[in-house]
Amino acid sequence: MKPHNIALLPAAGVGSRFGANIPKQYARLLNKPVLQHTIDLFAANPRISQIAVVVSPNDDWFDDCITLPPQAAVYRVGGNSRAESIANGLAYLLRHKIIGETDTVLVHDAARCCLPQTALNRLLDALEQDHENRGAILAIPVADTLKRQTPNAPHIAHTVSREYLWQAQTPQAFQAALLHRALQQTDLAQITDDASAIELLGIQPILVEGDSRNIKLTRPDDARLAAYFLQNPDN
Ligand code: CTP
Ligand code: MG
Repeated sequence: MKPHNIALLPAAGVGSRFGANIPKQYARLLNKPVLQHTIDLFAANPRISQIAVVVSPNDDWFDDCITLPPQAAVYRVGGNSRAESIANGLAYLLRHKIIGETDTVLVHDAARCCLPQTALNRLLDALEQDHENRGAILAIPVADTLKRQTPNAPHIAHTVSREYLWQAQTPQAFQAALLHRALQQTDLAQITDDASAIELLGIQPILVEGDSRNIKLTRPDDARLAAYFLQNPDN
């Protein structure tokens, strides 16, 4: 049987750098919460069978702000870090047999609400060809010149070659059992994305061309750009 594609959306952060008076996933862009945009973009793709949203156990906003489509559900098992929220959510889904071990889990930041369908479909296409089960992530080849600074001051020590360097985005997608095993074996405090945990098992996930519009809402300025991208979809 063909594995199902499950979107796992970590949405348990506080959004401290964004500086709003509510967590950024509930901030409104074009009169709709960021998290709602993200849920809806996965709901609009027929290749995604389930959407699992992970929020904090103390979340006070979700019920008032978010409308879940039929294929989505919320799990109040968020942790103290992104990695913990994902590990908790995935463990819950597997333990309660809400998803199967061979299903594919696409982890995607709730705060990346502008992911174009074209980029999501490129990732799904790559996963269909991934017969070795390496998993795959969206990423962008580095465009700018990179400088490493000297240890004690912001002076240029040297230029770092950008050859073979990519910036990781999400979704990052892996077989559920593999990601679960990888996260169980990792010091969650040491990793900043999901692929890192897989790499520590000696597996080399596939890099799939992402999209420069797939920004993560991080600082206040990002809101205007995200609203622009949402208003001007080209797919
Ligand atoms: N996230 C999560 N659980 C946490 C921390 C983060 O589920 N304990 C989620 C966020 O809600 C977000 C994604 O992981 O969708 C990416 O994290 P980030 O952009 O760092 O969001 P925050 O941690 O909320 O923001 P900040 O770091 O500025 O506080
Ligand atoms: Mg954070």
